[in-house]
Amino acid sequence: MSSVHIEAQPGEIAETVLLPGDPLRAKYVAENMLDEAVCYNRVRNMLGYTGFYQGKQVSIQGAGMGMGSTSIYVHELINTYQVKNLIRVGTCGAIKEDLAIGEIILAMSASGDSGANSSYFEGMHYAATADFGLLLKAYQIAAKLKIPTHQGSVFSTDTFYDDNPTRWDKWENHGILGIEMESQILFTLAHKFKVKALSILTVSDNLITGQFSDHAEREQSYIDMMKIALELA
Ligand code: HPA
Repeated sequence: MSSVHIEAQPGEIAETVLLPGDPLRAKYVAENMLDEAVCYNRVRNMLGYTGFYQGKQVSIQGAGMGMGSTSIYVHELINTYQVKNLIRVGTCGAIKEDLAIGEIILAMSASGDSGANSSYFEGMHYAATADFGLLLKAYQIAAKLKIPTHQGSVFSTDTFYDDNPTRWDKWENHGILGIEMESQILFTLAHKFKVKALSILTVSDNLITGQFSDHAEREQSYIDMMKIALELA
């Protein structure tokens, strides 16, 4: 039986799934970095593929933007397809001045502003954390590949556009490295369903300096991040 938003049959998705927001990134990685990749999902054009990286089976599934979309794919991958390791491969906007475009963050935890999260926890604040084993392994793989990484916390927001220019000051003062829109729900659902999750993020823009990358630059800095994620499988 397939799930509501994924048409794969059970067994067609690997135990480890990489989760880019953009389904065309899933397609690009499947076609350029995996062997024998097969597309298992075209529902809503949210492409998903299973293939092999250095002989190990791995899947890559587009998950869309924001916690609403991400939560649907994460929930179905875990509960219908028995996925055990979910690794977000995405971008974030840095809120530390010295974080440059293209640098990589291994997210240890994710704070956030999601109403869904606070209503789920009845107004209390859940500290959503990555799986330590995956985090440690990613750190070690990056060191072996000589890819520099930052380890730290990120903030998952429901609102990409906001009017308040000082919105992130307090969060930067409390050690948050970057802003994105998905990790908090990924970590929360992984803990709920007793599976493992990690987010690996490249800096696509800097909200303090106003620096941002164009589409081509984003593609380039994506490769290092993908190598770390694929080696994790
Ligand atoms: N804000 C929220 N999410 C993001 C950003 C941002 O600036 N950059 C990449 N993902």
